[in-house]
Amino acid sequence: MRNVIAIMNTKGGVGKSTLVMALAETLSAYHGKTVLVIDSDAQASVSSMLMSVESLHQLQNGGLTIVDYLVARVLQGVPAEWPRFVVRNVSDVDDARSVYVIPSDMQLTLFEREVSKEGLHARLRTAIGELLREARNVFDIVLVDCPPGLSVLTESWLREADFHVSPTKADYISACALDVFRRFKSLNPEMGFAENLGVVVNMKDAMSPVEADYHAWLAENLDNRCFHSVIPRVNALQDAARYVGDDRSYFAKYPGQVGAAIRAFTDEFLARMAAGTMDAVKAAPPPLPARTPLAAEPPPVTTPEPTSA
Ligand SMILES: Nc1ncnc2c1ncn2[C@@H]1O[C@H](COP(=O)(O)OP(=O)(O)OP(=O)(O)O)[C@@H](O)[C@H]1O
Ligand SMILES: [Mg+2]
Repeated sequence: MRNVIAIMNTKGGVGKSTLVMALAETLSAYHGKTVLVIDSDAQASVSSMLMSVESLHQLQNGGLTIVDYLVARVLQGVPAEWPRFVVRNVSDVDDARSVYVIPSDMQLTLFEREVSKEGLHARLRTAIGELLREARNVFDIVLVDCPPGLSVLTESWLREADFHVSPTKADYISACALDVFRRFKSLNPEMGFAENLGVVVNMKDAMSPVEADYHAWLAENLDNRCFHSVIPRVNALQDAARYVGDDRSYFAKYPGQVGAAIRAFTDEFLARMAAGTMDAVKAAPPPLPARTPLAAEPPPVTTPEPTSA
Protein backbone atom coordinates (compact mmCIF):
# COMPACT_ATOMS: atom_id res chain seq x y z
CA MET A 1 0.00 0.00 0.00
CA ARG A 2 1.40 3.42 -0.95
CA ASN A 3 -0.76 5.63 1.22
CA VAL A 4 1.59 7.75 3.36
CA ILE A 5 1.83 11.36 2.23
CA ALA A 6 4.04 14.00 3.83
CA ILE A 7 2.75 17.55 3.38
CA MET A 8 5.87 19.59 3.08
CA ASN A 9 7.37 22.88 2.01
CA THR A 10 10.51 24.38 3.54
CA LYS A 11 8.66 27.72 3.45
CA GLY A 12 6.45 28.56 6.42
CA GLY A 13 2.89 29.85 6.33
CA VAL A 14 1.91 28.46 2.93
CA GLY A 15 -1.08 26.50 4.29
CA LYS A 16 0.42 23.06 4.97
CA SER A 17 -1.53 22.46 8.19
CA THR A 18 -4.73 24.01 6.81
CA LEU A 19 -4.64 21.73 3.77
CA VAL A 20 -3.86 18.65 5.90
CA MET A 21 -7.03 19.37 7.91
CA ALA A 22 -9.15 20.13 4.82
CA LEU A 23 -7.87 17.04 2.98
CA ALA A 24 -8.44 14.76 5.96
CA GLU A 25 -12.00 16.02 6.48
CA THR A 26 -12.85 15.82 2.77
CA LEU A 27 -11.38 12.32 2.45
CA SER A 28 -13.47 11.26 5.42
CA ALA A 29 -16.74 13.07 4.59
CA TYR A 30 -16.76 12.53 0.81
CA HIS A 31 -14.76 9.38 0.22
CA GLY A 32 -15.38 7.40 3.40
CA LYS A 33 -11.64 7.02 4.04
CA THR A 34 -10.09 6.44 7.43
CA VAL A 35 -7.37 9.07 7.75
CA LEU A 36 -4.57 9.29 10.27
CA VAL A 37 -3.03 12.74 10.65
CA ILE A 38 0.43 12.72 12.22
CA ASP A 39 1.32 16.14 13.58
CA SER A 40 5.09 16.49 13.31
CA ASP A 41 5.24 20.20 14.06
CA ALA A 42 6.19 21.51 17.53
CA GLN A 43 3.64 24.32 16.98
CA ALA A 44 0.93 21.60 17.05
CA SER A 45 -1.12 23.64 14.56
CA VAL A 46 -3.08 20.81 12.99
CA SER A 47 -3.67 19.22 16.42
CA SER A 48 -5.31 22.42 17.61
CA MET A 49 -7.35 22.67 14.40
CA LEU A 50 -8.77 19.20 14.99
CA MET A 51 -9.52 19.26 18.72
CA SER A 52 -10.21 21.65 21.58
CA VAL A 53 -7.37 23.38 23.40
CA GLU A 54 -8.42 21.59 26.63
CA SER A 55 -8.26 18.15 25.01
CA LEU A 56 -4.90 18.92 23.46
CA HIS A 57 -3.44 20.12 26.77
CA GLN A 58 -4.78 17.03 28.49
CA LEU A 59 -3.05 14.78 25.98
CA GLN A 60 0.17 16.78 26.19
CA ASN A 61 0.17 16.68 30.00
CA GLY A 62 -0.72 13.00 29.92
CA GLY A 63 2.30 12.08 27.80
CA LEU A 64 0.20 11.03 24.81
CA THR A 65 1.76 12.84 21.87
CA ILE A 66 4.15 11.97 19.05
CA VAL A 67 6.93 13.35 21.26
CA ASP A 68 6.27 10.76 23.97
CA TYR A 69 6.22 7.98 21.40
CA LEU A 70 9.51 9.11 19.86
CA VAL A 71 11.24 9.76 23.19
CA ALA A 72 10.43 6.20 24.30
CA ARG A 73 11.48 4.56 21.04
CA VAL A 74 14.47 6.70 20.12
CA LEU A 75 15.96 8.26 23.26
CA GLN A 76 15.07 5.59 25.82
CA GLY A 77 15.15 2.62 23.46
CA VAL A 78 12.07 1.07 25.06
CA PRO A 79 9.04 -0.38 23.24
CA ALA A 80 6.02 1.90 22.75
CA GLU A 81 2.78 0.92 21.04
CA TRP A 82 1.97 3.69 18.54
CA PRO A 83 -1.83 3.04 18.56
CA ARG A 84 -1.84 4.27 22.17
CA PHE A 85 -1.06 7.76 20.83
CA VAL A 86 -3.83 7.82 18.23
CA VAL A 87 -6.80 10.02 19.16
CA ARG A 88 -10.12 9.14 17.58
CA ASN A 89 -13.22 11.23 17.00
CA VAL A 90 -11.38 14.44 16.21
CA SER A 91 -12.59 17.17 13.74
CA ASP A 92 -15.62 19.39 14.20
CA VAL A 93 -17.22 18.41 10.87
CA ASP A 94 -20.23 16.25 11.59
CA ASP A 95 -19.72 14.08 8.49
CA ALA A 96 -15.98 13.57 9.02
CA ARG A 97 -16.08 10.81 11.62
CA SER A 98 -13.09 8.80 10.43
CA VAL A 99 -10.31 11.30 11.09
CA TYR A 100 -7.67 10.32 13.67
CA VAL A 101 -4.66 12.26 14.91
CA ILE A 102 -1.39 11.67 16.70
CA PRO A 103 -1.00 15.11 18.28
CA SER A 104 2.18 17.07 18.83
CA ASP A 105 3.78 19.16 21.51
CA MET A 106 6.40 21.92 21.64
CA GLN A 107 8.78 19.47 23.35
CA LEU A 108 9.37 18.08 19.87
CA THR A 109 12.07 20.72 19.44
CA LEU A 110 13.96 19.46 22.51
CA PHE A 111 13.60 15.89 21.29
CA GLU A 112 15.18 16.78 17.94
CA ARG A 113 18.03 18.55 19.71
CA GLU A 114 18.75 15.39 21.72
CA VAL A 115 18.63 13.21 18.61
CA SER A 116 21.25 15.39 16.94
CA LYS A 117 23.41 15.66 20.07
CA GLU A 118 23.43 11.91 20.62
CA GLY A 119 23.75 11.02 16.93
CA LEU A 120 20.56 8.95 16.98
CA HIS A 121 19.44 9.67 13.41
CA ALA A 122 19.45 6.02 12.33
CA ARG A 123 17.37 4.99 15.33
CA LEU A 124 14.93 7.82 14.61
CA ARG A 125 14.50 6.70 11.02
CA THR A 126 13.93 3.10 12.13
CA ALA A 127 11.22 4.20 14.60
CA ILE A 128 9.49 6.33 11.94
CA GLY A 129 9.73 3.52 9.41
CA GLU A 130 8.18 1.00 11.80
CA LEU A 131 5.34 3.33 12.76
CA LEU A 132 4.48 4.02 9.12
CA ARG A 133 4.77 0.37 8.08
CA GLU A 134 2.10 -0.59 10.59
CA ALA A 135 -0.09 2.53 10.22
CA ARG A 136 -0.21 1.96 6.44
CA ASN A 137 -2.11 -1.26 7.02
CA VAL A 138 -4.56 0.15 9.57
CA PHE A 139 -5.61 3.41 7.85
CA ASP A 140 -6.64 4.13 4.27
CA ILE A 141 -4.50 7.27 4.19
CA VAL A 142 -1.80 8.68 6.48
CA LEU A 143 -1.02 12.41 6.24
CA VAL A 144 2.08 13.81 7.93
CA ASP A 145 1.98 17.54 8.68
CA CYS A 146 5.61 18.68 8.49
CA PRO A 147 6.94 21.93 9.95
CA PRO A 148 8.74 24.44 7.73
CA GLY A 149 12.48 23.92 7.33
CA LEU A 150 14.32 20.62 6.99
CA SER A 151 14.88 19.04 10.40
CA VAL A 152 16.20 15.52 11.04
CA LEU A 153 12.66 14.46 11.89
CA THR A 154 11.19 15.90 8.69
CA GLU A 155 13.93 14.17 6.71
CA SER A 156 12.96 10.84 8.30
CA TRP A 157 9.28 11.27 7.35
CA LEU A 158 10.25 12.24 3.81
CA ARG A 159 12.52 9.23 3.39
CA GLU A 160 9.92 6.80 4.76
CA ALA A 161 6.72 8.27 3.22
CA ASP A 162 5.42 7.16 -0.18
CA PHE A 163 4.59 10.61 -1.54
CA HIS A 164 4.95 14.27 -0.69
CA VAL A 165 2.65 17.16 -1.55
CA SER A 166 3.91 20.74 -1.36
CA PRO A 167 1.45 23.57 -0.83
CA THR A 168 2.84 26.88 -2.02
CA LYS A 169 1.81 30.47 -2.53
CA ALA A 170 2.22 31.86 -6.03
CA ASP A 171 5.07 34.16 -5.04
CA TYR A 172 8.82 34.42 -5.43
CA ILE A 173 9.97 33.20 -2.00
CA SER A 174 7.66 30.18 -2.00
CA ALA A 175 8.92 29.21 -5.46
CA CYS A 176 12.53 29.52 -4.19
CA ALA A 177 11.64 27.28 -1.23
CA LEU A 178 10.44 24.59 -3.63
CA ASP A 179 13.79 24.76 -5.35
CA VAL A 180 15.63 24.34 -2.03
CA PHE A 181 13.46 21.31 -1.32
CA ARG A 182 14.18 19.82 -4.76
CA ARG A 183 17.93 20.21 -4.24
CA PHE A 184 17.71 18.63 -0.80
CA LYS A 185 15.84 15.68 -2.31
CA SER A 186 18.60 15.09 -4.84
CA LEU A 187 21.20 14.63 -2.06
CA ASN A 188 21.83 11.01 -1.04
CA PRO A 189 19.24 9.45 -3.37
CA GLU A 190 20.38 6.00 -2.23
CA MET A 191 18.73 6.71 1.14
CA GLY A 192 15.27 6.74 -0.46
CA PHE A 193 12.79 9.59 -0.68
CA ALA A 194 9.05 10.07 -1.11
CA GLU A 195 7.80 10.61 -4.64
CA ASN A 196 6.44 14.04 -5.60
CA LEU A 197 2.66 13.81 -5.85
CA GLY A 198 2.50 17.48 -6.75
CA VAL A 199 2.64 21.14 -5.83
CA VAL A 200 -0.66 22.79 -4.95
CA VAL A 201 -1.06 26.55 -5.24
CA ASN A 202 -2.83 27.88 -2.15
CA MET A 203 -4.10 31.33 -1.14
CA LYS A 204 -4.31 32.40 -4.75
CA ASP A 205 -5.62 35.90 -5.35
CA ALA A 206 -7.56 35.58 -8.60
CA MET A 207 -7.26 39.34 -9.24
CA SER A 208 -3.47 39.52 -8.98
CA PRO A 209 -1.57 39.54 -12.31
CA VAL A 210 1.70 39.01 -10.38
CA GLU A 211 0.36 35.82 -8.80
CA ALA A 212 -0.91 34.70 -12.21
CA ASP A 213 2.65 35.07 -13.55
CA TYR A 214 4.20 33.11 -10.67
CA HIS A 215 1.54 30.44 -11.02
CA ALA A 216 2.33 30.07 -14.73
CA TRP A 217 6.03 29.90 -13.89
CA LEU A 218 5.44 27.14 -11.30
CA ALA A 219 3.26 25.19 -13.75
CA GLU A 220 5.83 25.46 -16.55
CA ASN A 221 8.36 23.57 -14.45
CA LEU A 222 7.17 20.02 -15.01
CA ASP A 223 9.17 18.76 -12.00
CA ASN A 224 6.62 20.57 -9.83
CA ARG A 225 3.71 18.46 -11.17
CA CYS A 226 1.36 21.32 -10.25
CA PHE A 227 -2.14 20.23 -9.35
CA HIS A 228 -4.76 21.66 -11.70
CA SER A 229 -6.89 22.56 -8.69
CA VAL A 230 -6.01 25.84 -7.01
CA ILE A 231 -7.12 26.89 -3.53
CA PRO A 232 -8.23 30.53 -3.39
CA ARG A 233 -7.38 32.96 -0.62
CA VAL A 234 -10.64 33.23 1.34
CA ASN A 235 -11.51 34.19 4.88
CA ALA A 236 -13.54 31.00 5.27
CA LEU A 237 -10.38 28.91 5.16
CA GLN A 238 -8.77 31.08 7.81
CA ASP A 239 -11.88 30.63 9.98
CA ALA A 240 -11.76 26.88 9.35
CA ALA A 241 -8.60 26.70 11.47
CA ARG A 242 -10.57 27.52 14.62
CA TYR A 243 -11.97 24.36 16.18
CA VAL A 244 -15.56 24.98 17.27
CA GLY A 245 -16.88 22.79 20.04
CA ASP A 246 -20.21 21.96 18.35
CA ASP A 247 -20.08 19.96 15.18
CA ARG A 248 -20.69 21.94 12.01
CA SER A 249 -21.62 20.74 8.56
CA TYR A 250 -18.96 20.35 5.87
CA PHE A 251 -20.66 23.15 3.91
CA ALA A 252 -20.62 25.49 6.89
CA LYS A 253 -16.87 25.00 7.27
CA TYR A 254 -15.97 24.92 3.56
CA PRO A 255 -18.65 26.98 1.79
CA GLY A 256 -19.11 27.71 -1.90
CA GLN A 257 -16.03 28.24 -4.02
CA VAL A 258 -13.47 27.14 -1.43
CA GLY A 259 -15.35 23.90 -0.69
CA ALA A 260 -15.52 23.13 -4.40
CA ALA A 261 -11.79 23.84 -4.78
CA ILE A 262 -10.87 21.57 -1.87
CA ARG A 263 -13.06 18.74 -3.17
CA ALA A 264 -11.52 19.09 -6.65
CA PHE A 265 -8.04 19.02 -5.11
CA THR A 266 -8.96 15.92 -3.08
CA ASP A 267 -10.23 14.13 -6.21
CA GLU A 268 -7.00 14.92 -8.01
CA PHE A 269 -4.96 13.86 -4.98
CA LEU A 270 -6.69 10.45 -4.92
CA ALA A 271 -6.31 9.97 -8.67
CA ARG A 272 -2.59 10.75 -8.50
CA MET A 273 -2.12 8.43 -5.53
CA ALA A 274 -3.80 5.61 -7.42
CA ALA A 275 -1.73 6.29 -10.54
CA GLY A 276 1.49 6.46 -8.48
CA THR A 277 0.67 3.14 -6.86
CA MET A 278 -0.01 1.54 -10.27
CA ASP A 279 3.31 2.83 -11.63
CA ALA A 280 5.11 1.30 -8.67
CA VAL A 281 3.35 -2.04 -9.19
CA LYS A 282 4.35 -2.06 -12.87
CA ALA A 283 7.95 -1.17 -12.02
CA ALA A 284 8.21 -3.79 -9.26
CA PRO A 285 10.45 -6.82 -9.93
CA PRO A 286 8.62 -10.09 -10.71
CA PRO A 287 7.55 -12.06 -7.63
CA LEU A 288 9.98 -14.64 -6.25
CA PRO A 289 9.13 -18.29 -6.91
CA ALA A 290 6.99 -19.84 -4.18
CA ARG A 291 9.13 -21.25 -1.39
CA THR A 292 8.72 -24.68 0.11
CA PRO A 293 6.77 -24.28 3.37
CA LEU A 294 8.71 -24.94 6.55
CA ALA A 295 7.49 -27.61 8.94
CA ALA A 296 6.44 -24.93 11.49
CA GLU A 297 5.31 -21.54 10.06
CA PRO A 298 5.92 -18.42 12.22
CA PRO A 299 2.80 -17.09 13.99
CA PRO A 300 0.78 -14.46 12.06
CA VAL A 301 1.53 -10.80 12.90
CA THR A 302 -1.44 -9.03 14.49
CA THR A 303 -2.18 -5.53 13.31
CA PRO A 304 -2.91 -3.08 16.14
CA GLU A 305 -6.18 -1.16 16.07
CA PRO A 306 -6.21 2.64 16.75
CA THR A 307 -7.38 3.40 20.28
CA SER A 308 -9.07 6.32 21.88
CA ALA A 309 -7.05 8.56 24.23
N1 LIG B 1 -6.53 29.48 1.22
C1 LIG B 1 -6.39 30.24 2.30
N2 LIG B 1 -7.06 31.44 2.40
C2 LIG B 1 -6.91 32.22 3.47
N3 LIG B 1 -6.13 31.93 4.52
C3 LIG B 1 -5.45 30.77 4.48
C4 LIG B 1 -5.55 29.87 3.39
N4 LIG B 1 -4.75 28.80 3.66
C5 LIG B 1 -4.20 29.03 4.86
N5 LIG B 1 -4.60 30.20 5.35
C6 LIG B 1 -4.18 30.86 6.61
O1 LIG B 1 -2.78 31.13 6.47
C7 LIG B 1 -2.10 30.96 7.71
C8 LIG B 1 -0.99 29.90 7.55
O2 LIG B 1 -1.60 28.66 7.31
P1 LIG B 1 -1.01 27.32 7.92
O3 LIG B 1 -0.74 27.45 9.37
O4 LIG B 1 -1.88 26.23 7.46
O5 LIG B 1 0.37 27.30 7.12
P2 LIG B 1 1.62 26.33 7.37
O6 LIG B 1 2.32 26.22 6.07
O7 LIG B 1 1.19 25.09 8.00
O8 LIG B 1 2.47 27.19 8.38
P3 LIG B 1 3.80 26.67 9.16
O9 LIG B 1 4.86 26.67 8.13
O10 LIG B 1 3.99 27.69 10.23
O11 LIG B 1 3.51 25.30 9.68
C9 LIG B 1 -3.16 30.56 8.71
O12 LIG B 1 -3.60 31.73 9.36
C10 LIG B 1 -4.28 29.99 7.84
O13 LIG B 1 -5.54 30.12 8.46
MG1 LIG C 1 1.85 24.15 9.76
